[in-house]
Amino acid sequence: MHSHTRLVPLLSLATFTSACLREFDKFDARDVHEQSNPLLARQTQWPPILTEKETTIVNSFDANSIDDWANYYGHQLKIAGKGRDAAVWTRDRWRESGFNAELNEYHVYLSYPLHQSLSVTYSNGSTSEVNIKEPALPEDDVTNRPDSVPTFHGYSASGNASAEYIYAGRGTGADFARLKALGVDLKGKIALIRYGSIFRGLKVKNAQEAGCVGAIIFTDPADDGNVTVANGVPAYPDGPARHPDSVQKGSVLFLSTYPGDPTTPGYPSTKDAPRSDISSVTPKIPSLPISYAAAEPLLRALDGHGLTAEQVNRTAWKGALGAEYRTGPAPNVTLSLENLMEGKITPIWNVIGYINGTNPDETLVVGNHRDTWMIGGTGDPNSGSAVLAELAKAFGKLSESGWKPRRNIVLASWDAEEYGLVGSTEWVEEHVNWLTETAVAYLNADVAVSGPRPYVDATPELHTVASEVLRKVVYPNFGGFNISLYEAFQKSTGAKYGVLGSGSDFTSFLHRGVGSLDVGAGGGPGDPIWHYHSNYDTYNWMSKFGDPGFEVHSAVGQFLSLLALRLADDEVLPFDLPNYAAELRKYHEDLRKLISSTEGATLNTDELAAAIDVFERRANEVKALETLARSRNDTELIKVVNHKYRDFQRGFVSQGGLPDREFYRHVVTAPGLDTGYAAITFPGISEGVQYGNLGIAKDWVSKTAKGILRAADIIKT
Ligand SMILES: *[C@@H]1O[C@H](CO)[C@@H](O)[C@H](O)[C@H]1NC(C)=O
Ligand SMILES: *[C@@H]1O[C@H](CO)[C@@H](O)[C@H](O)[C@H]1NC(C)=O
Ligand SMILES: *[C@@H]1O[C@H](CO)[C@@H](O)[C@H](O)[C@H]1NC(C)=O
Ligand SMILES: *[C@@H]1O[C@H](CO)[C@@H](O)[C@H](O)[C@H]1NC(C)=O
Ligand SMILES: *[C@@H]1O[C@H](CO)[C@@H](O)[C@H](O)[C@H]1NC(C)=O
Ligand SMILES: *[C@@H]1O[C@H](CO)[C@@H](O)[C@H](O)[C@H]1NC(C)=O
Ligand SMILES: *[C@@H]1O[C@H](CO)[C@@H](O)[C@H](O)[C@H]1NC(C)=O
Ligand SMILES: *[C@@H]1O[C@H](CO)[C@@H](O)[C@H](O)[C@H]1NC(C)=O
Repeated sequence: MHSHTRLVPLLSLATFTSACLREFDKFDARDVHEQSNPLLARQTQWPPILTEKETTIVNSFDANSIDDWANYYGHQLKIAGKGRDAAVWTRDRWRESGFNAELNEYHVYLSYPLHQSLSVTYSNGSTSEVNIKEPALPEDDVTNRPDSVPTFHGYSASGNASAEYIYAGRGTGADFARLKALGVDLKGKIALIRYGSIFRGLKVKNAQEAGCVGAIIFTDPADDGNVTVANGVPAYPDGPARHPDSVQKGSVLFLSTYPGDPTTPGYPSTKDAPRSDISSVTPKIPSLPISYAAAEPLLRALDGHGLTAEQVNRTAWKGALGAEYRTGPAPNVTLSLENLMEGKITPIWNVIGYINGTNPDETLVVGNHRDTWMIGGTGDPNSGSAVLAELAKAFGKLSESGWKPRRNIVLASWDAEEYGLVGSTEWVEEHVNWLTETAVAYLNADVAVSGPRPYVDATPELHTVASEVLRKVVYPNFGGFNISLYEAFQKSTGAKYGVLGSGSDFTSFLHRGVGSLDVGAGGGPGDPIWHYHSNYDTYNWMSKFGDPGFEVHSAVGQFLSLLALRLADDEVLPFDLPNYAAELRKYHEDLRKLISSTEGATLNTDELAAAIDVFERRANEVKALETLARSRNDTELIKVVNHKYRDFQRGFVSQGGLPDREFYRHVVTAPGLDTGYAAITFPGISEGVQYGNLGIAKDWVSKTAKGILRAADIIKT
C-alpha cells in the first residue's frame, strides 16, 4: 500500500506545504526530524571510493535487467491470494542467485469484488449511472485484459446503501467533528469523501461512527498541483497529468487498530488456526472508490445546498473540481451504492529466501511486497520487487567468489500487504521468538520508485550508516550531472530522515522491537503524476514517465544492497545509538510543544526526560566500549557490543501495547490513531494529550520512560 509525502521540489528547497500534496500523502503530520549528527566527514570523496565487495555489488546492477524484471511483474495478476505464479517466479530467480528459497503459505481472510455499482438520482427524478470503471487504454496493454481487477475496496462491507449524501472533506475525525458541530445531519447519509491525508479505512471508520450508511471516496486533482488537465497538461497516456477516470483502489481495514489477517490477531494464520470476529477492524458500511471525473457531477449537485466551504473553514476542504464543495445534503438528490463482496479464507504465498551467516545468532531481513490491486502495479510495488530481484543477483555475484555473510540474510517477498500488511505480519507472528533472539534490522522497499526524489524513513540508529551509503551511490543524469544519491536525498528532503508510521511491511517488525528502514523515490511538484493504486500504474507509464531507463530503480537498489552488505557484514553493527538519544530529545521537545499548544493540558514529563538522560549516557558508554573493542581487536568484546546493538530496541516494546490497540507496542513511535500512515512519536502520551485524556497521558509518561530505561539497561556496559 505505502503512502508517502509528496516531496519538495528537487531544485529549490521548500518546506512541506499542503500545496504540494497528492492524495497518497501522509503529509500534515509527517514527522520529520533533522538528523542531529548529520554526517560524519567520511565518504566525501567523489566519485565515491568503494571496497572490493561494494564494487562487485554496484557493478552487478544493471538497469536493463531491472527493466526486464519490471516488465515481468508488470504483466502478472498478483492480487493477494491469486498470484502464485509470480511467487514461484520470484523463488526461482532467488534460487538462481544462490539463495535457499521457498514459498511460505498462510491461510488468511481476504475479500474479492463480485458486483459493484453506483448511481445518482437527481431531484427531478432522473437517475444516471456513475462510472466506476477505469477504461481500457489502447496504448497500454495491461489495462485491456480480461482478468483486469475492477475498482473496489478490500475488506469493505458487502451491502447496499441508498440515501442522500453529504461532502465530508478528507473524512478525518476532525472533519466529521466539525460537520457535527455545525449541525450537518449525517445520520443515514452517504459520505462523499476526498482521498488524502489519512488512511482510507479510517475515512470509512469515521463515516460509520458519524452515523453514515455508506462512503464514496474520490481522487481530487487539487492534489496534483499544476500537473493537471485543467492547466492544459495532457493526461496519461498522452502526457504526465492524471487520467480523469483513474481510480485509487485499496484496503479499508482499520489499520491503526491492528494489521495482519483480521481473523487471527496476534498469531499466525495456519490452516487450522482458530478464527476470531473481525467486526472491530473492518467496516460495517459499504464503500467504493471513484475517479475525479465521476465525482465532479456529484459534488456539483450539492452546489447551493448545506454549508459553504468558507463556513466549514477546514484546510484542504475545497478541491479543484468545478463545484462549490458545499456540505449538502441536497434534498432528494441520492446515491445508490451496491457492493457485493465475496469474503473467504484462502492461501497466500510469501517467498522467503536466505543465506546463512557464519554467525547464526544475528539476522538481517530485507523485504518487499509482491501483491497488487491490478495487473500492473509497476510503482507499487513492482519497482521494489524488481530491485529485490536485482539485489539477490548482486549478492549471488558476491557468493560466487566464495563470500559468506557474517550474519544471516533473509529475503522476503510478501503477499497480501495491500489488504493490511497480511503476509509480513503473519510471518513475524510465526517467527517472533527467533526474530526477537536474532534480528538486527529490517530493510523495506515498497514503492521503490514512483518519481525521481529519494526519501528514507528509519529508526534513528540507522541514520548515520544510511547517510554513508547514500554517498556511495551515483544518482545519474541529474540536470546533466551525476550526483550522489545523498545529494539527491538532500535536495528532496533536506537530508531529513522520516519517522516510521505504518503503511508498509516494516510495521510488524518495528512493533516487535526490530529497527527498520524504508526507502523509495517519489514524485514532487511538476513531476509526472503517478496513478497510485489504479490500473494505470503500469509498465508503460513507468517506461515513459516514471523512470525511463530504470536508472532511479538502479540507484535505489544499489543503496538497499550496499546498506544490506554493511548490516550483514560489518564486524561491528554500524549503529549510531547516540543519534537515537538525540532524536528522543527532539521527540520530547515536540511533546512539550504539543502539550503547551493544547488547551487545558498540563502534564509533567520529567520522568521521561530523566529516562532519556539515562539512555543517552548508556548510548555514549556503549559507543566507548565499541571503540575499545575495535582498538583491541577483541572479538569477544565485539560480540558483546553487537548483541547490545542488536537487542536494545526490544526494550522499547511495551507489554500490552498502546491504549486500545495492543498490536502497536513501540513506546517511541506508532501510526497515529486517526492517520493510519503518518507517525506519531511517544504515541501513548501524545494521543492521550490530543484526545483530552490526561489520565492516560500521565500513565504513558511512566510506561514510555520505563521502556526507554529497559532499552538503556540492555546497553549497560
Ligand atoms: C435532471 O437533473 C440533472 C442534474 O441537474 C440533469 O443533468 C438532467 O438533465 C435532468 N433531467 C431532466 C429529465 O430534467
Ligand atoms: C443489493 O441490491 C441488489 C440489486 O437491487 C439486490 O439484488 C441485492 O439483493 C441487494 N443486496 C443486499 C445485501 O441487500
Ligand atoms: C503552480 O504554478 C504557479 C504559477 O506558476 C506557482 O506559483 C506555484 O508555485 C505552482 N505550484 C506548484 C505546486 O508547483
Ligand atoms: C477559520 O479557522 C481559523 C483557525 O482554524 C480561524 O483562525 C479563523 O478565524 C476561522 N475563519 C473563519 C471565517 O471562521
Ligand atoms: C422529495 O421527494 C418526496 C417524494 O419522494 C416529496 O414528497 C418531497 O416533496 C420531495 N422534496 C423536495 C424538497 O423536493
Ligand atoms: C541455515 O541455518 C538453519 C538454522 O541454523 C539450519 O536449520 C539450516 O539447515 C541452514 N541452512 C543451510 C542451507 O545451511
Ligand atoms: C554518469 O555516469 C554514467 C555511468 O553511470 C556515465 O555513462 C555518464 O557518462 C556519466 N555522466 C556524466 C555527466 O558524468
Ligand atoms: C582481528 O582479529 C581477527 C581474528 O581474531 C583477525 O582475523 C584480524 O586480522 C584482526 N584484525 C586486526 C586489524 O588486527
